Amino acid sequence: MKTMATSDMLQKKLQQLAATSTSTSTVILDLGCGTGLMCPLLRNISQSIIGVDISSKMIAKAKLKDCYDDLVVSEINSYLLRSLANASFSVDIIIAADVFVYFGELEEVFQLCKALLQKGHHSGYFAFTVESLDHLSLTTGDTNNKNMKMDMYRILSSGRYAHSKQYINQLATSIEDFHVVICESIILRLNNNQPVIGYMVILVLLLADKHH
Ligand SMILES: C[S@@+](CC[C@H](N)C(=O)[O-])C[C@H]1O[C@@H](n2cnc3c(N)ncnc32)[C@H](O)[C@@H]1O
Repeated sequence: MKTMATSDMLQKKLQQLAATSTSTSTVILDLGCGTGLMCPLLRNISQSIIGVDISSKMIAKAKLKDCYDDLVVSEINSYLLRSLANASFSVDIIIAADVFVYFGELEEVFQLCKALLQKGHHSGYFAFTVESLDHLSLTTGDTNNKNMKMDMYRILSSGRYAHSKQYINQLATSIEDFHVVICESIILRLNNNQPVIGYMVILVLLLADKHH
């Protein structure tokens, strides 16, 4: 299993994907940008990077990096909804690194991301990480549900949500035009010296001919 920093892993994969793109004007949306860890890593594959976070304190810290083209204090789904209503705004890559630990159900945010990528009328990427429900440590006390394999997502004793690979795959494939490029197990971080396993996921939006 990969042990690089999550942000570096995401950057490496997106870099590879961006290298196959002919676009020279990539707009990246960094959802739940926090202090802005991802921005310097993605600068060389983007023309413009927008950070969004619900916390004004995080946005203030991200500003200090002097890397983003725009920083917005907003809840993610509200931001996506507003962006959809803005006719002149489109994005090519959407990132949500270590953010969906605050979300249980992901269908709404997936649908909104898809709709926003679709506005660009070409293919686009949606890259994110989730904590894995499938690899819960026996020491966390979160594994006592006999039906764990049937779970789609669950809030853990840590207060964070974990999601199953099955749920991510089912959701991605249930949304028309989204395809799973990568759904890889990774070590997100160490917690009391125990690895916390998650998934690094990249979906691609490939529009069927009917949209052209
Ligand atoms: C663990 S941090 C990850 C920060 C950054 N993406 C990174 O990889 O370093 C999660 C961030 O998501 C933000 N966040 C959580 N729920 C959110 C929501 N519903 N809307 C916007 N931001 C949210 C938090 O304020 C926090 O800054």
